[in-house]
Amino acid sequence: MENHDFGVVGLGVMGRNLLLNMADHKFAVAGLDLDAEKASALATEAKPDQDAKGTTSAEEFVSMLRKPRAIMLLVPAGKPVDSAIASLVPLLDKGDIIIDGGNSYFPDTNRRIAELEEKGIHFFGMGISGGEKGARFGPSMMPGGDKQAYERLRPVFEAIAAKVDGEPCVTYLGAGSAGNYVKMVHNGIEYGIMQLISEVYDLLKRGLGFSDEKLQQMFAEWNEGELKSFLIEITGIVLKKTDDETGKLLVNLISDQAKAKGTGKWTSQNAMDLQAPIPTIDAAVNMRDLSKYKEERVEASKKLTDTPTAHTSSDDEILKSLKEAYYFAMINIYAQGLAQLHIASKEYNYGLKLEDVAKIWRGGCIIRAVCLEDFRKAYARNADLPNILLDDEIGKSLVATQTSARNVIKLAIDKGIPTPAFATALGYYDAYRSERMATNLIQAQRDYFGAHTYERIDKTGTFHTKWD
Ligand code: 6PG
Repeated sequence: MENHDFGVVGLGVMGRNLLLNMADHKFAVAGLDLDAEKASALATEAKPDQDAKGTTSAEEFVSMLRKPRAIMLLVPAGKPVDSAIASLVPLLDKGDIIIDGGNSYFPDTNRRIAELEEKGIHFFGMGISGGEKGARFGPSMMPGGDKQAYERLRPVFEAIAAKVDGEPCVTYLGAGSAGNYVKMVHNGIEYGIMQLISEVYDLLKRGLGFSDEKLQQMFAEWNEGELKSFLIEITGIVLKKTDDETGKLLVNLISDQAKAKGTGKWTSQNAMDLQAPIPTIDAAVNMRDLSKYKEERVEASKKLTDTPTAHTSSDDEILKSLKEAYYFAMINIYAQGLAQLHIASKEYNYGLKLEDVAKIWRGGCIIRAVCLEDFRKAYARNADLPNILLDDEIGKSLVATQTSARNVIKLAIDKGIPTPAFATALGYYDAYRSERMATNLIQAQRDYFGAHTYERIDKTGTFHTKWD
C-alpha cells in the first residue's frame, strides 16, 4: 500500500490534472476528494499502466503514501485549506510534508508554517499557474518556505513543470510565504495585462468600429513578434469562438460584469501597505469593480452622452501605434509587479532572486511572454535592479515606444474610451523618470494646513512656515 510517491487533496480539474501529469512521469500518485465521482475519475483518466488511485477516505489516502509523505492541497483558499490541514494532521507523522498549491493569502501561509512547525510537519506554499492545461502538461510553479522539504520533492516538480530552453519553470524562490507572495503578484500582473488587452479591444471595436474579423487577425499577428504571450494568444482564439446555440460570436454574448477571486485585490492592498506604487494593477482591480455597477452605467450612458470627435489617422497608422503602445504599457505593468516583489523581498526577508522569478514565468504560467526573457537578462546584468525601467536595454525600448503610447491615449480620450491601464502605465513611467516631481507643492500644502513641516533642497533640517 505505502508505495505512492505523491498525494493531492482536492481532485477538481487542477488536482486531477496535476496527478495525471505526475503519472505521465512515472510517479505513483494518490488523490483524496470527498466527492466519490471526482475520486474515481482519477483512475479512469489515468493510462492502464499508471498507478493513480483516488479515494474518499482520508485514512486510506494517508496509508497509500510512502513515508515521509508528500501531500499537496489543491482546495479553495481560506477556510478549506485550514480544514484540510486539520483533518490530515492527526493521521500524519513527524517529517511529513504538506504543500499548499492554491492561491492562498500569504499571511495565512506564514501562520500555517508556524502552526505546523510545532507539530513537526513541514509545510510550504507553492503558487501554481497555468490553469487546467498547465496542470496537465506543464505549469509554472512558485515554491517558497521550507527549502529542505522542497529539495526532497524537487525531482517531482521539475519533471512536471513547463520547460523553456530545457529549463523547468519551477525553482525555490525564498523563505516563508515567498511562493504565495510571488504568485499573488503574478496574478496582479495578470489582472493588469488583461485590462490592457480589454482596452485595446474596446478602443478598436467601440471607439473606431473595427470588425470582429479585423480584431481576430490583429491579435493573431501580435502573437508572432515581441508581443508573443499566452494572454495575447488566447485573446485571438476567444474572439473567434462562435456560440454553439446561436452561431454568433460568443464573446459578444458574455455579460460585461467581471468577477474576481481576490488575488488582484490582495496585490493592490499589500502594495499600499508597502508603499510600492502599482497604479496599473490598481486600475485593473478598480475596472473589474466598476464593471459590476451595470444599472448605474446603463443610466449614466443615457445621461452623459458622447461628443464624437473625428480622427485623422488611417487604420494602419493607428494599428502601428497601438502595437507599440501595447508593448510600452505591458512592460510598465511587469515593471510595477516586479518592483513590488523587490520591495516585498526586503520587507519580508524573502531573499527573492528576480532573475529566477522571470525565468520561471517564461513558460507554463498565465503571464508567460517573450519579454520575460528580456527581464531575466536584465536581472542577470544586475541582480539588485530595483526597477526594470532602469535597465539600459529595456529603457531604450520604452523611450522608442513612448510617443505611440501618448498618441493612443490621446485617441482614446477623443473617442471617450476608458483606457486607465494605458494611462496609468504612461503616468507611472513619466513620474518614475521625473527628476523632480511636483510633490514639493504637496509638502508645502501639508505644512500650510497641518504644520506637518517640510525639508528643503538647499539646506538640511525640518522647516515650518507661517504661510499667510
Ligand atoms: C493562474 C491563474 C489562476 C486563476 C486566477 C483567476 O495563474 O493559473 O491566475 O490562479 O485562474 O486566480 O483569478 P480571478 O478569478 O481573480 O480572475
